[in-house]
Amino acid sequence: MNVFVSRLIPEAGISKMEEAGIKVTVWKEDRPLTSEELIHHVQQHDALLCMNREKIDKAFLNACPHLKVIALYSVGYDSMDVAEATRLGIPMSNTPDVLSDATADIAFTLLLAVSRKAFFHHRRILNDEWDFFRPTANLGIELKNKTLGIFGLGRIGLEMAKRCRGAYNMQVIYHNRNRNQEAEKEIDARYVSFDELLEQSDVLSLHTALTPETKDRFTLNEFRKMRSKAIFINTARGAIHREEDLLKAILDGIIWGAGLDVTNPEPMSPDSPLLRLPSVCVTPHIGSATEEARTGMALVAAENIIAGLRGERLPNVIDPSVYDK
Ligand code: DGY
Repeated sequence: MNVFVSRLIPEAGISKMEEAGIKVTVWKEDRPLTSEELIHHVQQHDALLCMNREKIDKAFLNACPHLKVIALYSVGYDSMDVAEATRLGIPMSNTPDVLSDATADIAFTLLLAVSRKAFFHHRRILNDEWDFFRPTANLGIELKNKTLGIFGLGRIGLEMAKRCRGAYNMQVIYHNRNRNQEAEKEIDARYVSFDELLEQSDVLSLHTALTPETKDRFTLNEFRKMRSKAIFINTARGAIHREEDLLKAILDGIIWGAGLDVTNPEPMSPDSPLLRLPSVCVTPHIGSATEEARTGMALVAAENIIAGLRGERLPNVIDPSVYDK
């Protein structure tokens, strides 16, 4: 039994698979594989452990229908053709839970940084612009008792909401496809319509998956319905907002600012005007980038590879209907 791992992952995951008797080959070059290289390597292996950034599409899957399991090293699976994998009988897994705290921490960090224009002030020092005290210049806004709106209240959204309630007594409203009644009880969250979410949130934080329904969900039309002092936070997927509309919304004072860990497109160009705005803070898709979360992801992905190669049900199978056949 052998597995191909498409990028270097924490050692804990590799050892776990090796201890289970699996031969592990890791792609060690410091660049992503091309589609052709990925197919070439995977054709010689029984299983694949890969990133959501790899292109697991119809062409790939039909070139590698022998795979016993594909374990993703991510919670999101928006660039995977899960339906085609299911059609071919290949189970796929993701890594939920282990990165919820780390990702919520980044959403919370961005919120604080935006509310006090932290990255902008850092740049002022770099530009030798820290001169004298001006009582009315470059002021931030406070978060106490404000309303947090969550678009997509799942595990990560819940962690973000807990942080905002605990630190600032923020009221939580949310909009989901399905109500999350457990979270409603746990943090006293109130379900609202999408338009109410836009109109009532002082902070609007996205924690939803990227799907055809959520793609481009935040355009100028939506920003226009938001509060003029609203802060928009996206740590989910960049394609959920339209970036040129976000820029216009902030420049025109339609909303106050934004914190982004994901951009549209990625990577963000260093020339993006968003990077120059005082009330915008951007990080380069580092939501899960803690030692704890990345090790947890490696262990979860390894558990799924081991189960798949033993012919057992994947603990984190994405589409359970793959077992209906
Ligand atoms: C995830 O796990 O989905 C993160 O965004 C990393 O891709």
